[in-house]
Amino acid sequence: MSNTPSPAYDIDAAAIAARIDRPLVLVGLMGVGKSTIGRRLAGVLGRSFVDADEEIERAADRSVGEIFEAHGEAYFRDGERRVIARLMEEGHGVIATGGGAFVDGETRALVLEHGLAIWLDCDLDTLVERTSRKDTRPLLKTGDPREILFNLKEQRGPAYAQAQIHVVTDDGPHEATVARILEELAAWR
Ligand code: S3P
Repeated sequence: MSNTPSPAYDIDAAAIAARIDRPLVLVGLMGVGKSTIGRRLAGVLGRSFVDADEEIERAADRSVGEIFEAHGEAYFRDGERRVIARLMEEGHGVIATGGGAFVDGETRALVLEHGLAIWLDCDLDTLVERTSRKDTRPLLKTGDPREILFNLKEQRGPAYAQAQIHVVTDDGPHEATVARILEELAAWR
């Protein structure tokens, strides 16, 4: 075992947490790692973490897949918009959002004004591989997942690009991505 400190701790996370007191909102495509990375980021910063999809499921008392199936995507998006507005209001430290949330103009404006949006971005192969591990995403069941993710990447890119911070991840350890986010946050004014 090496004694080298993990890269996530090379930066003064406490100073970042003290300076940036608005919610850090992770946005980006399905499979990019928003929930896992968000949880770790919150841990390093000593802030609370909440996952918007889990909150939607709790509020509706059913899974995202069941909501899509019973009521359709538009209904899900309405709920998503309301839940994220509530989470922003509650002032959580780190919020992981579902891949479509930041594409909604109202949600995007709210997050950009009262939070700090962090776009997690990675290559298509990694997204395809990661999303193939779970069978819970209704949008990927309507055709070829690679083609769907490719199209969503194209369509949503301009919305995601409005995030204040952009971090490109790869299929390496999540810890490295957290370290990169911390670097961006340290430089953010
Ligand atoms: C969606 C992404 C999902 C979930 C829903 C729709 C999207 O969340 O909100 O299936 O439109 O990209 P994840 O990005 O956490 O998979």
